[in-house]
Amino acid sequence: MFKKQIPVSRKIVKDLFSLYSHLNFKVRLYLRIRWLLTPFETVEKYVPKQGLILDLGSGYGIFSNLLNILSDNRSVIGIDLSEQRTKIAQLTVGDRYNIRFLKGDLKTVELSPCDVITLYAVLHHMNYKAQEDLLNQCAEKLKQKGILIIKDNDTRPYWKYLLNYVHELAVMYLLGVKGDRLSFRTPEDFKSLLIKIGFSIDTIRLKTYLPYPFILYICKKR
Ligand SMILES: C[S@@+](CC[C@H](N)C(=O)[O-])C[C@H]1O[C@@H](n2cnc3c(N)ncnc32)[C@H](O)[C@@H]1O
Repeated sequence: MFKKQIPVSRKIVKDLFSLYSHLNFKVRLYLRIRWLLTPFETVEKYVPKQGLILDLGSGYGIFSNLLNILSDNRSVIGIDLSEQRTKIAQLTVGDRYNIRFLKGDLKTVELSPCDVITLYAVLHHMNYKAQEDLLNQCAEKLKQKGILIIKDNDTRPYWKYLLNYVHELAVMYLLGVKGDRLSFRTPEDFKSLLIKIGFSIDTIRLKTYLPYPFILYICKKR
């Protein structure tokens, strides 16, 4: 199934970016471009409206903040390897009591029990073994009927994969994104791993302005 981008209201976008208004121009420009190129708004619709959400690899916190702005009943903890990104994300929190950002390495972090885990454009920045270990821990820490949302990239069609790969490499190089060598999995590989770990899975292909093979895995703990 293909899903077109589902936009949120302008007011929400304004509120979201106002959280970053006091931050430096480079970060704001990067986030504006990222907002246009990646389907945050569509993915948000699949995230439950309440509960404790761990947003793993939260970067500057744009997706965590979107989740929190769209429902006060979502408590969000973002975790990222980059100290610089985490500090900037934490600067957006203000007086909100139900969102915070922590620096942590997903290869070694001990996750708290939670209702939802999101991995938005993160897993392919970790090596295959680390991905598997993390997904096992997600299954362990999610409460009964918990949801794991993974936004990643397909490896087909090959030309789209290649285009996206070059984009990812360029961004990693230019912006110094932390992580391992890029490690993408095929959807078949993802599905068999997630089923083995104990999830049932729905997949959704995400359309954006770019011809990138974005894919969403909605995983329910069995
Ligand atoms: C492409 S960015 C995505 C950030 C955010 N999810 C978003 O969509 O804006 C990938 C993020 O994963 C983080 N990352 C990579 N490896 C990590 C690890 N081992 N532990 C925690 N974060 C990691 C990077 O620091 C980076 O912020």
